This record gives sequence, C-alpha cells and structure tokens, in this order.
Amino acid sequence: MRKTYFAALMITAGLLLSGCQSLYNEPDNSLYLQLGERAGIANIVENLLYLIVDDERINEQFKGMDVVQFHRNLTDQLCELSGGPCEYSGREMRELHAAMGITDTQFNALVENLILAMEKDHVPTAAQNRLIKQLLPLYPDIRHL
Ligand code: HEM
Repeated sequence: MRKTYFAALMITAGLLLSGCQSLYNEPDNSLYLQLGERAGIANIVENLLYLIVDDERINEQFKGMDVVQFHRNLTDQLCELSGGPCEYSGREMRELHAAMGITDTQFNALVENLILAMEKDHVPTAAQNRLIKQLLPLYPDIRHL
C-alpha cells in the first residue's frame, strides 16, 4: 500500500515538474538561429537589396530611398519576427506602404526575391517557409486592403 502511495506521489511530482518546465520555456528562437542570427539576417537583407535593384517589377518604387535605414529596419523586423532578440523600430507598415499602390504581383515579387536571397545563403527550405509564414499577416497592411 505504502509503495503504491509513494509511486503515485512520484508520478504527481513528475507531472507537476514537467508542467512548470513548459510554463517557463524559453521563447522559440530556432528560426532566428537557422537564419544565422542577426548577422545572417543582415546578409540576407543585403542580398535582397541587390535583387530589388535588378527587378523591374519593383525597383521604381525603391528609387531614392535611404538604403542604410531600410537595411537596418528590415533586418530588425525579420530578426524580431523570427524570434530573435531585436526590436523593430522602423515606421508602421500600413502607413509606410500606403501611398505606394503595391499590387499583388509586386508583393509576390518581393517575397520571391526574399526566397532567392535566403537560397543564396543556403537557408534550409523549411526555414525559408517559416519566415514567409511570419510575413504573411503583414500582407493586408502592405497591400493597403
Ligand atoms: C513582405 C513584404 C514587405 C515587408 C516585410 C516590408 C517591410 C519594409 C520595411 C521594414 C521597411 C523599412 C521601414 C523603415 O525604414 O521605417 C520598408 C520600406 C519600404 N518598402 Fe516595404 N516591405 C514589404 C513589401 C514591399 C513591397 C512589395 C514594396 C514595393 C514594391 C515595398 C516598398 C518599400 C519602399 C519603397 C520602402 C522605403 C520607403 C522609404 O524609405 O521611404 N515594400 N518595407
């Protein structure tokens, strides 16, 4: 009888402990790590910038922008969205893209270039898809729907 009581006590304690562990789990930064942390993301954004310049579907829109600011802010945004320790401090997405009249073709072109930018740095396909998934909720703001 005593043995059964002890076993039940141990099982309850085990369940309680594993519950506490999941309660205090660190936030999931696995995507951030797969992207190569902030330095890796900064490199991906640099690749993206070159692709944007060469892409006639979208390069007109980007003429005259502050490249350094864009690079810093997009890097921080992707870092934060992937679970990294960054804080996006750029302009609000809807307001920023409002007057641009961005089309679906242009939105898709940017996503396509981002995928190519990640491929250049050998980011695994699953990680690429995870990042794109994080960006999709921004679609209505960027398209101004
Ligand atoms: C997933 C889609 C997109 C994301 C996550 C995104 C994100 C951003 C971010 C973070 C910035 C910098 C904000 C700042 O410096 O305060 C920015 C700027 C800009 N974005 Fe987007 N963007 C997206 C799609 C697009 C598309 C499709 C276009 C046009 C074809 C576009 C055109 C621009 C331009 C021209 C700027 C620079 C504006 C300026 O400095 O005056 N974006 N975007």
